Amino acid sequence: MKRYNWLLGFLCLQVFNVQAQEQFISKRVDSLLKLMTLKEKIGQLNQYSGREVTGPANDRKAYLLKDIQNGMVGSMLNVKGVKDTREIQAEALKSRLKIPLLFSLDVVHGYKTVFPVPLSEAASWDMEAIKQSAHIAAKEAAASGIHWTFAPMVDIARDPRWGRVMEGAGEDPFLGSAIARARVKGFQGEQLGATDAVMACVKHFAAYGAAIAGRDYNPVDMSEQQLREIYLPPFKAAAEAGAATFMNAFNTLNGVPATASTFLQRDILKKEWNYKGFVVSDWGSIREMIPWGFAANLSEAAAYAITAGSDMDMESEAYKNELEKLIQTGKISVDLLDDAVKRILYKKFELGLFENPYKFSDFKREDIVMKDKTHAAAARSMADKSIVLLKNEHQILPLQTDVKKIALIGPLVRAKADLASTWTVYADTTQMTSVEEGLKQRFGTMKFNYAEGCKINTSDTSKFNEAIQTAQNADLVVMVLGEAGNMTGEAKSRANIELPGVQEALFQKIKKTGKKVIVVVMGGRPLIFNTIADQADAIVYTFWLGGEAGHAIADVLSADYNPSGKLPMTFPRSVGQVPLFYNYANTGRPVAKSGDIHYRSAYIDSPNTPRYAFGFGMSYTDFSYTDLRKDKEIMKGGENLNVSFTLTNTGKRKGEEVVQLYLQDKVASVVRPVKELKGFDKVELEPGESKTIKFVITPEMLAFYKSERGWITEPGSFKLMVGGASDQMRLESDFKLE
Ligand code: GLC
Repeated sequence: MKRYNWLLGFLCLQVFNVQAQEQFISKRVDSLLKLMTLKEKIGQLNQYSGREVTGPANDRKAYLLKDIQNGMVGSMLNVKGVKDTREIQAEALKSRLKIPLLFSLDVVHGYKTVFPVPLSEAASWDMEAIKQSAHIAAKEAAASGIHWTFAPMVDIARDPRWGRVMEGAGEDPFLGSAIARARVKGFQGEQLGATDAVMACVKHFAAYGAAIAGRDYNPVDMSEQQLREIYLPPFKAAAEAGAATFMNAFNTLNGVPATASTFLQRDILKKEWNYKGFVVSDWGSIREMIPWGFAANLSEAAAYAITAGSDMDMESEAYKNELEKLIQTGKISVDLLDDAVKRILYKKFELGLFENPYKFSDFKREDIVMKDKTHAAAARSMADKSIVLLKNEHQILPLQTDVKKIALIGPLVRAKADLASTWTVYADTTQMTSVEEGLKQRFGTMKFNYAEGCKINTSDTSKFNEAIQTAQNADLVVMVLGEAGNMTGEAKSRANIELPGVQEALFQKIKKTGKKVIVVVMGGRPLIFNTIADQADAIVYTFWLGGEAGHAIADVLSADYNPSGKLPMTFPRSVGQVPLFYNYANTGRPVAKSGDIHYRSAYIDSPNTPRYAFGFGMSYTDFSYTDLRKDKEIMKGGENLNVSFTLTNTGKRKGEEVVQLYLQDKVASVVRPVKELKGFDKVELEPGESKTIKFVITPEMLAFYKSERGWITEPGSFKLMVGGASDQMRLESDFKLE
């Protein structure tokens, strides 16, 4: 009992310490606020981009530096490196109250070490690896003077036409929430203020991924039920994980710009979720209320934004130019301004910047951290885990030792900068390892002959013949095809998501040589490649793997690493199916397995099923699912349902399986999806090894959102399903909730 008293005492002390620290910082914030003039308060809400301050002298906007020196700037983005952050911080410390600047940057998938893009990492379903990736990105950024990253992007996306799907975690709220937590913890560590951690910024609040037609910056229209069940959960998970800041979004939600949305920023985030951090607007989004036709001028836009809870103004200069007049004329209460200033100052104190404004800008630490060789190894391991094996006919993979000559064909065989895609803020992309380099280093004795075959996105077929000959002279062909790295990211929506250019035509010519063809596909989104899907002998999908791509692909093709990735987004057969997702409604006229072909919810020219399902991915080994057990048939009185089953590696290689738990509420007063992901686990097993896998089903997992009533559960019948893909349920069982 003594041990528990000690533990209880320790925990109470911990809670007391946190509360004591919060009270101490709040007191310091209040004392500083009392000293600040109206202008100085407004200055804290103003954020500039650094390019116009640190770039070439003739590009500089002189007034920006003046504003910094006069305390009219609270934060800078796009200033990076110890040298520049020290110089700009020194300018800020010339101001009357010497309030230090926050330095922020889009460290989305690595700083110097380029990790796989977030959608690629999501395919790993490995939370520890994702957390480690964010931690290393934070360590390198923090060593370069950065206090704050504009990540994780947690926008749920069901539409691969949208270019920003590559920045997120895919289509599912449960997986997206787990990844949001992992990334926030990875970026921020255990406590803000450590010099190997940065503040996270959860973006884009909210529902930006549902832009109509997948076209970036387009309006978003949806019910509150969809918003609550699909798009908000990862934001709530990130807030509960302690995310220091949020960023709002460019889109409107049901007619109101997110930046001006009191419903999102005050009602949900700051009141219902009791969020204490601050919200930064997305770049210029306050000013953009004018072209939206929502504000008549910048003054109105500023008033909407501060009222709605948008605390900091990125690059609109709306607060700097308009807030003083709005407050002096009584149109805006100074309390709104004070609330925003206090939230921002709180974080500066929490980071320890008042004790030492140069705390994160240390030349020695920058040098040591940037040379840490373990970072590349971590990026390679993350890339290994992110690769998805989509097809492997007749076990053509892993590459057999009797293969002596391989034709390497395709416009991405030697790609380097493409591998980093977009949002690489510091990386030297010439240091990326191409697929050709990775394979040659791994398969030293094998001969590789290269032919580009075609460019990524042109109609030029003049190099086809050279590629065909190269294929004819080889034992086997490896093609590396896909998008260009800059075809996804912000403002990169595509109406056609097939492989660009003539790449599939090239594949058909190569396939006609009769050689076995392995295709590695790269892109920042689910792509459509039906000919390849039908005719290739093996397909490996990587999204964008970052700096270690070549090594990781060699690791998988050689089976040094047995592929374990599972798709975080549905791959459609045609863009006409989009939006297409696994957690769909059955409809009143479901597509029956057989029988009446009329009057069903289907197309007359396409199946409803995807080309590849959410959660799908193959391995070089196989797994069996047996012996499903439940500890009860009926959940009552708030009880949990404990489920277990046996997973066995029935193949000849060690491998990892992502086991997935899906639930279905069969009858409810709001139509429920045919299945929803409610649990997963990544399990490594030796050949022949078995393990009992356990899941706990809680009443909260059975809840759904009902307008006017919030989250509710209803008694009734449920189905639980487990399997290795959303369209491959291996075990099922029913249970009831009373
Ligand atoms: C961009 C993006 C946002 C990014 C910000 C700063 O427009 O929408 O994700 O963090 O501006 O670069």
